[in-house]
Amino acid sequence: MKKIAVLVSGSGTNLAALIQACENKTIKNGKISLVVSSNPDAYALQRAKLANIKTKTVDRQSFQSSRDFNKKLLEVLKEENPDLVVLAGFMCILEAEVTRYFKNKMINVHPSLIPAFCGKGFYGLRVHEAALKRGVKLAGATVHFVNEVADGGPIIMQKCVAVRPDDTPRSLQKRVMEEAEWVILPEVVSLICSEKIKIKNNITYIEV
Ligand code: GAR
Repeated sequence: MKKIAVLVSGSGTNLAALIQACENKTIKNGKISLVVSSNPDAYALQRAKLANIKTKTVDRQSFQSSRDFNKKLLEVLKEENPDLVVLAGFMCILEAEVTRYFKNKMINVHPSLIPAFCGKGFYGLRVHEAALKRGVKLAGATVHFVNEVADGGPIIMQKCVAVRPDDTPRSLQKRVMEEAEWVILPEVVSLICSEKIKIKNNITYIEV
């Protein structure tokens, strides 16, 4: 059974999808052993507690620099020694010290079809605001490995969602979560826990 640590900052609906997938065995060979929040008020922490999962908070606001925050986060993660770290709505920049330590063992869910609307400044609702402003007809989500480039690691899975003419950033965000993020994130976690994802020259392959 692989040990999974989930990093969160907000409402934690992706965490909820992972918890459910572990409970109903959609995620095979994996167990969430720790949830770490960068925000002491994140509702995600309540979801973890309700599911009897250990929680820790590394409050971004209480650190003067991103470097110090990353140091503490790495310390907490090293203590847990997870096989996989999942960024599920984690809104802090990770320094290379952390991403290198968890190379090929850390994944993120991003609410767009990377390489569109990703990188610095693109997170949460901002992604959907930018997509609607540009007039795209297809939106979606991406799960990718995390490296030192923001949203730049090898792509593992993507799912698209049609944009409707009357969409608002909120309505689009909701559909992208329901139809894409909550579907592909547990699927990828399950594949990784079963050691079915291989990476060659920065391209991922699913072993059948
Ligand atoms: C999700 O849409 C997630 O993809 C996004 O924030 C939301 C968090 O929701 N993450 C990012 O934008 C990271 N770049 P949740 O807390 O309910 O899972």
